[in-house]
Amino acid sequence: MNTFTYYNPTTLHFGQGTLEKLTAEVPKYGKNVLLVYGGGSIKLNGIYTQVVHLLKGIDASIFELSGVEPNPRLTTVHRGVEMCRTQNIDLILAVGGGSVIDCAKAIAVGAKYEGNFWDIVTRKASATGALPLGTVLTIAATGSEMNSGSVITNWETKEKLGWGSPFSFPKFSILDPAHTTSLPENQTVYGMVDIMSHVFEQYFHHVDNTLLQDGFCETILRTVIDTAPRLLQDLTDLENRATILYSGTMALNGTLSMGVRGDWATHNLEHAVSAVHDIPHGGGLAILFPNWMSYTLDTNVARYKQFAQRVFGVTTTGKTDRQVAEEGIAELRGFLNSIGAPSRLADYDIDDSTIELMADKAMVYGDFGNFKKLTREDVVNIYRMSL
Ligand code: NZQ
Ligand code: ZN
Repeated sequence: MNTFTYYNPTTLHFGQGTLEKLTAEVPKYGKNVLLVYGGGSIKLNGIYTQVVHLLKGIDASIFELSGVEPNPRLTTVHRGVEMCRTQNIDLILAVGGGSVIDCAKAIAVGAKYEGNFWDIVTRKASATGALPLGTVLTIAATGSEMNSGSVITNWETKEKLGWGSPFSFPKFSILDPAHTTSLPENQTVYGMVDIMSHVFEQYFHHVDNTLLQDGFCETILRTVIDTAPRLLQDLTDLENRATILYSGTMALNGTLSMGVRGDWATHNLEHAVSAVHDIPHGGGLAILFPNWMSYTLDTNVARYKQFAQRVFGVTTTGKTDRQVAEEGIAELRGFLNSIGAPSRLADYDIDDSTIELMADKAMVYGDFGNFKKLTREDVVNIYRMSL
């Protein structure tokens, strides 16, 4: 296994009733709170009312930035940065999903940077600090609640790019499974696909002796595969919601990357699709991941064989290693179909007319991926397989 340094400063409050922790956390940072949220789901499910009630109880002054888009946009980040400056904000409180949290991270860092925040996303400038950020998570998916990553879309240039900094970890995150019960079926599925995809990105590597890391990854995958059908039977089941919520955080809080180098090519492929077509992240991943797997299988058949055996229980008797590996990928396709995830770009009315444009967007930093380095030709091939 590789050498590594692990750093994660986020305090996690997990479980029913933990929203009350706001009253202890918020005063640590000051009175002026910028409440950041999305298109209104938190008003429909009552979380907004509860948060405002608790903040008023500790005499916080609340300023609101609403309407953060799924696939949050640079223009919204700029609006938030401006509010932080004019209202003297002490703490940013993101209440919502990965999009709201990612936008809030960008605002927190942007508020401490004099230039255009896009410079930080495009690596022309480095983050120099951030306002403190707290989160109340309402969807199990990205892991943004306990990592320093963020993904921002510049709709004018049709770019969707990830960035991160040591300053953009949330100070605290509150995860109550009850806050996720109002999620509709499709968003629940996208979230579970995203969680599994984060594990895949960190599981497919060529590093030797990663027994413990492999076990963590395989356990999360089996847990999601086992829980998903039961959760989809009853979207309000709190135990299953809690299992998925915890899986989402563990899948991308850095734990799985200790001692390994993740691949992340499929996320790059998906971000380029979303940049051009504004589709849900998890939906795009459900389409792309099995095709990326088929495309990269020969890079490391043994790894795929292990995946097939340990995650899906594929038997080996009378089969070649490659057949076992292929069966694992087929099992994954079957599972994704069974939970109603999309399987073709055509499901989002995407045809071959934008493949070159998506490939341009994916190649912005050149060849990418650590399990298999993808060239432009590879990228076009995988998009074509996904039509
Ligand atoms: O905007 P509102 O009204 O809140 O509705 C949202 C949105 O329409 C809705 N929703 C969220 N919680 C709900 C709810 N509806 C009912 N009840 C609830 N409890 O769900 C929709 C999707 O929300 P969004 O935040 O976009 O989903 P997600 O958490 O999947 O975030 C996706 C974004 O995160 C990025 C993706 O690329 C995408 O931009 N990612 C961020 C990562 C990170 N920071 O580490 C890693 C990921 O790989 C990913 O790339
Ligand atoms: Zn993701």
